[in-house]
Amino acid sequence: MNRRSTVASVIALTASLALAGCSSDGLSGSPELKVSGAFMPQPVGADMAAGFLTVQNTGGGADKLTSVTSDISDDITIHESKDQKMQKVKAFDVPADGELDLERGGNHIMFMKLKQKPKQGEKVTVELRFEKSDPIKVELPVKEPTYNPEKH
Ligand code: CU
Repeated sequence: MNRRSTVASVIALTASLALAGCSSDGLSGSPELKVSGAFMPQPVGADMAAGFLTVQNTGGGADKLTSVTSDISDDITIHESKDQKMQKVKAFDVPADGELDLERGGNHIMFMKLKQKPKQGEKVTVELRFEKSDPIKVELPVKEPTYNPEKH
C-alpha cells in the first residue's frame, strides 16, 4: 500500500466514525453529559440526607460518576441499595448513549454529618465529578421528605 492510499483509507475511516457518532457502539467518541431531575428530600431526624438525579449521556463514550462534593457536608459518598441495605461504591457507570439513574430505593448520593439541614424550598448545590468529563454543578431543590417523582 503506498502512502497516498493509506492516507485515503484513514480519511475514509474517520468519516465513517463521524457518521457513527450517535450510535452506541461505545468504541469511540467522548461522553456528553447532562443532568436532569435532581432533588433532595428534606432530611428528617438524623443529620444525613440523600440526593437523586439522572445523568444522561448522549455521547459515544462511557463515563463514570466518581465523587460528589458540596458545601453542606464534607462526608459525601455514593451508595447503591441491595437487599434493603445500602453500601458505598467507588463509582457509578454512565454508559455511552445511556443514563445513570439515581432514584429512591436505589442508587443515591449520601450526605452525612450535615453542616446545616436543608429545608423544603431551599436548594443545595453539589458538584458531580466524573472520570472523563469536566465536573458538573447541579442544584438540588429540596422537596418534602416523601417526594418521589415518576420517571419518564
Ligand atoms: Cu446511603
